[in-house]
Amino acid sequence: MDSALPATEKTTAHPSDEAAGVVGAGIETTKWAAIVTCFHIVDNPSIRRRLQQDLQDAFPDMSYTPTLAELDRVPYLMACIEEGLRLSYGAVARSPRIHRLKAISYKQYTIPAGVPVSSNAWHAHHDELIFPSSFSFVPERWLNNAKGPDGKKNLARYAMFFGKGTRICLGLQLEYAELEMVVAMLFRGLFEFEFY
Ligand code: HEM
Repeated sequence: MDSALPATEKTTAHPSDEAAGVVGAGIETTKWAAIVTCFHIVDNPSIRRRLQQDLQDAFPDMSYTPTLAELDRVPYLMACIEEGLRLSYGAVARSPRIHRLKAISYKQYTIPAGVPVSSNAWHAHHDELIFPSSFSFVPERWLNNAKGPDGKKNLARYAMFFGKGTRICLGLQLEYAELEMVVAMLFRGLFEFEFY
């Protein structure tokens, strides 16, 4: 409060908005993605067994803590995380984008400048053409450089859990880091899990 920040940044509303932003953007999203991912892994014993096996093959010494770069190279771990993110959706509200300067084309439509367009993660993630059996947790769909329905574009292009374009999530690298560490440590075989 003693700094040279402008007075508008020292109102009560400002730190309160910042706090809501940190909690909403950085905590609720992370918490929910981790919960959904872990739930589905525990709920699918064959997926859990494969994840544990792949992690043990990659890091047989259980006292060793893998680095992030090493975790990145465990494809099934990354596939479980992508699938967990898909089924936790990120922000499900519509994320409007407006091109203020020029008209844009979409299929047969011309959208005039200044008109908002939007989509949302829930509908994109349950498009059965892109994600068949979309309500099921299927990490395998992300393996082997998976492609979308045209067989050319990467499947990741259709994932909206971090938003898209100019306002895409600023925390996504941190997010992958958190999820990789949490999921790998929980499921490398040190713990047992049961629902109650
Ligand atoms: C699983 C975790 C996360 C998910 C699913 C997620 C998802 C999203 C989504 C959907 C948006 C809106 C993008 C858009 O409007 O198109 C967003 C924006 C944002 N996220 Fe995340 N997020 C996550 C974690 C984080 C973390 C850990 C941080 C910060 C440490 C963070 C910081 C932000 C910020 C600052 C924005 C606003 C970017 C802007 O408006 O330019 N997020 N996030």
